[in-house]
Amino acid sequence: MDSPQVENDLVRVLFTEDQILAKVGEMAARIDADYAGKDLLMVGVLRGAVMVMADLSRALDRHVEMDWMAVSSYGSGTKSSGVVRILKDLDTDISGRHVLVVDEIIDTGLTLGWLISNLSSRKPASVEIATLLRKPDAAQMTVPVKYVGWEIPNEFVVGYGLDYKERYRNLRAIGTLAPRVYS
Ligand code: IMP
Ligand code: MG
Repeated sequence: MDSPQVENDLVRVLFTEDQILAKVGEMAARIDADYAGKDLLMVGVLRGAVMVMADLSRALDRHVEMDWMAVSSYGSGTKSSGVVRILKDLDTDISGRHVLVVDEIIDTGLTLGWLISNLSSRKPASVEIATLLRKPDAAQMTVPVKYVGWEIPNEFVVGYGLDYKERYRNLRAIGTLAPRVYS
């Protein structure tokens, strides 16, 4: 049976709940300043961005609208292929809007790169990206990422929205899994 103490499966904590909330607060302060006097529509990428969207939006000191997209990349389970399919589109017309795409992690950046070009074709006033974590491979991205919480090494992490086989999203911290979990 599964242990109810999901945290026990973490072999190393990279970021605690307090560290995450402090970092999200810093990102929110920058967003508050950058979007002063402008309308703001945050677009969360389901499902991983749910936690960062919830905390980032509540750390803002301003009005904000939120909408969601779900996309899936074709290809093997562990690596993005860059071929993306929209599973759930926005309910909002973004033409003329200032759009901030919120994601929890950018690995290769293929998914987000595709998403940004798709959203840009809808003629928004601006599109920017906020991500809590970014891995080294994302350096090859052609799209600039305006808000990055932390740069992390190229290892698989879970928690705070990040999953392994749909589990561990509900962890408050972010960390790496014990090898026994994979076997
Ligand atoms: P990419 O940037 O197109 O390579 O894909 C990014 C997506 O892959 C993220 O939104 C996550 O869903 C998933 N992903 C990438 N790295 C990790 C990780 O370390 N843990 C959990 N999911 C990850
Ligand atoms: Mg994601």
